[in-house]
Amino acid sequence: MPKITFINSDAKVNTIEVQNGLTVMEGAVQNDIQGIDADCGGGMACATCHVYVNKEWQDKLPVKEDGEEDMLDMAFEPKQNSRLSCQLVVSDELDGLVVNIPSKQG
Ligand code: FES
Repeated sequence: MPKITFINSDAKVNTIEVQNGLTVMEGAVQNDIQGIDADCGGGMACATCHVYVNKEWQDKLPVKEDGEEDMLDMAFEPKQNSRLSCQLVVSDELDGLVVNIPSKQG
């Protein structure tokens, strides 16, 4: 299974295995990753699944839909590499993905 690594604002590193077809958010919730609350359950309506994607991975991810961009505008400290983890579907191509959890969440 693809491995996804989460780094929180205290530099605590958690690497989990996530089944293909689940989202990065779903993997985080199932593995009790702190800071990914996913209040809206993946509906692109809360931004509590906000993560910063490591630069080297940005181009390998699907482009953002309008709704994701709009929601990220309301997130805590959005950056150019911000994503909603509920919109990132895990596949073999994402094996090794590294994301950082914003300080307000993690
Ligand atoms: Fe709410 Fe991703 S879980 S926007």
